[in-house]
Amino acid sequence: MKFEPVKHIAIVGTGMIGTSLAVLTTGYGYKTTMLAMNQELADKCQKQYDSFYADFVSRGLMTAEQAAICGRYLHFTTDYADLADVDIVFESVVEVLDVKHQVYQAVEANCPNVKAICSVSSALEVDKLAEGMTKYKDRIIVTHPFNPVYMVPYFELAKGSDTADGVVEFAKSLLEALGRKPVVLKRSAPGFIGNRLQFALWREALYIVESGIADPKDVDTCLMYSFCPRYTSIGIFEHFDNGGLDLNINVCNTVFPDLSDAKSAPKSITDRIAAGKLGAKTGEGFYDWRGVDMDTYRERVNAPYWHFIDWDMPKE
Ligand SMILES: NC(=O)c1ccc[n+]([C@@H]2O[C@H](COP(=O)([O-])OP(=O)(O)OC[C@H]3O[C@@H](n4cnc5c(N)ncnc54)[C@H](O)[C@@H]3O)[C@@H](O)[C@H]2O)c1
Repeated sequence: MKFEPVKHIAIVGTGMIGTSLAVLTTGYGYKTTMLAMNQELADKCQKQYDSFYADFVSRGLMTAEQAAICGRYLHFTTDYADLADVDIVFESVVEVLDVKHQVYQAVEANCPNVKAICSVSSALEVDKLAEGMTKYKDRIIVTHPFNPVYMVPYFELAKGSDTADGVVEFAKSLLEALGRKPVVLKRSAPGFIGNRLQFALWREALYIVESGIADPKDVDTCLMYSFCPRYTSIGIFEHFDNGGLDLNINVCNTVFPDLSDAKSAPKSITDRIAAGKLGAKTGEGFYDWRGVDMDTYRERVNAPYWHFIDWDMPKE
């Protein structure tokens, strides 16, 4: 069901996250205006947006007519004056504090109806974001998604010291109406929930490789064929509760002392960076990417998420 208080959504920034967020908001029939830095970037974003919808059509997830209907909800502007009546803003610009502050100042000057200013920042805390504001410090929150936003349902929301009551709930209601699974943090923390968990796992994976326990490929095999698939249908607290905490305590006390407690990126990363081995983009990282079919790789990336696309699409 639509969240009726939101009639018009603004997305500032036309990059990877902004574009995939617009795919989602228009897919649910919300009038969405994207603010681009210039017409060339708006055109580039429109092309990318169209290619995502073309993909849905070719997969049989919707008809071309339905995709065209969703597309009619998307608008572009380069002028903040066109955002005068928006109810909510998603700030999706580069992860540079000064740039985000400039955006908030423009929103404060042009969007008198805005109820929530949502940053999709991966790491910046709400209080840091609010420092650049004068008028609407009480309306800014973080709504951190995972990419691609239209496929991965999870969002994590954090408020700041000045956030007014109801702002997080407003954004959460919209995200729920967009079929998302938002979680509100009790307090903000670097990496929120998702990246804290992901990077705790990554730190240990690197340690397993560096300390000669196993190679990257074998660590990846373990993840893909052991416990990771379980966590698409149950949670980790459910799992260990079910196993019994009296058993769990023994494994905690045996394994925890031996796990990595590194406080910065380890040698296996810094050495590769120094050697210009940055991963897929330079042809080599932990894997040799030369000759890898990247289309097939992307298919594998998206494979677990397609079934989440069951949107409540607009009829006209
Ligand atoms: N890429 C991811 O996987 C991911 C995941 C979650 C959150 N994020 C966060 O999303 C935000 C955007 O990341 P991205 O990956 O989409 O980056 P991106 O580089 O693809 O896009 C950034 C966009 O910001 C625009 N921009 C820059 N300055 C601007 C300004 N002054 N006014 C308007 N637009 C401006 C650029 O034109 C570009 O379209 C960042 O805060 C990032 O941390 C990214």
